[in-house]
Amino acid sequence: MIVTPLTELLGIRVPIVQGGMQWVGTPPLAAAVSEAGGLGILTALTQPSPDALRIAIRETRKRTSKPFGVNITLLPSINPPDYAGYASAAVEEGVRIFETAGNAPGQLIKYFKSHNCIVLHKCTTIRHAKSAARLGVDVLSIDGFECAGHPGEEDIGGVVLLARAAQELNIPFIASGGFADGRGLAGALALGCAGINMGTRFMCTVESPIHQNIKEKIVASTEQDTVHIFRTLHNTARVFKNKVSAEVVAIERRPGGAKFEDVRELVSGQRGRLVYENGDPDYGIWTAGIAMGLINDIPTCEVLVKKMEKEAEDIIGGLGKMVRTQSKL
Ligand SMILES: Cc1cc2nc3c(=O)[nH]c(=O)nc-3n(C[C@H](O)[C@H](O)[C@H](O)COP(=O)(O)O)c2cc1C
Repeated sequence: MIVTPLTELLGIRVPIVQGGMQWVGTPPLAAAVSEAGGLGILTALTQPSPDALRIAIRETRKRTSKPFGVNITLLPSINPPDYAGYASAAVEEGVRIFETAGNAPGQLIKYFKSHNCIVLHKCTTIRHAKSAARLGVDVLSIDGFECAGHPGEEDIGGVVLLARAAQELNIPFIASGGFADGRGLAGALALGCAGINMGTRFMCTVESPIHQNIKEKIVASTEQDTVHIFRTLHNTARVFKNKVSAEVVAIERRPGGAKFEDVRELVSGQRGRLVYENGDPDYGIWTAGIAMGLINDIPTCEVLVKKMEKEAEDIIGGLGKMVRTQSKL
């Protein structure tokens, strides 16, 4: 067994978290990850209302008695969702582990901490990690440039970012972005992380709610099949490379650039959702990371988590044997 500050804090067996995923982080997946020994996370905004989130929490609890969490992602938005309503619904339903992500999380973190909750905060820079630590979060989830979704604008890959986190942070942190196997888990632990967070790898499991065609597309794809959109709008997102994302990038590169209005229809969240429902990978924008290059199968969460745990244990044991007290040379 691998014991880290994360497994001890959350009461889980394996230091693997399934990060919040819009349209994907639903009760079947979150419960399966938690049952497998990791931390499953429901994505609040995938539910149409705080009441629907209550139902999703109850459904997850029917499927597992193990700890699971709820993600609340603060998005730049003209008409923001009812974040406070989602947060209080989850707390009232007895959830005590939260993953926060996005801009200006202070109020939300304060609310969760005043209800004795454990907060994992997702961030992409050491500066943001330090300010979240000052706000009292328990664990930082550090997304490197490799990650699916929003890597920030500084383009620092995980190896340097996590080593910097080890130098600068005084609270446990986990590695996120590009992790999909036991090698990655062992590597993250070696860098000083208390565990890892995975998105793309968990999308491609039996219990993930997305269409089988999309899971098979992930298996068939490589680390070269993602692209960054919204670079010119300073809201970079790593998404699957398809006809729609290519069109968005082309519009962004037009002389004079692009405004959000110019791409609004192409990037609509509802179109992205239909990709997962109908299985057409070219229908809209959908989030995926370069971890696709490491994904060659569609296992159950239990098989995946067990395999990663065993692989990481074997690697850590093997590394121990590299250290000798006396050289034969
Ligand atoms: C389909 C998908 C949807 C995502 N949606 C969210 C989200 O709503 N909120 C969030 O904080 N992160 C979101 N993420 C990011 C993941 O939680 C995680 O940080 C990221 O996937 C890590 O990189 P990896 O995919 O290489 O493992 C999403 C990722 C994927 C693949």
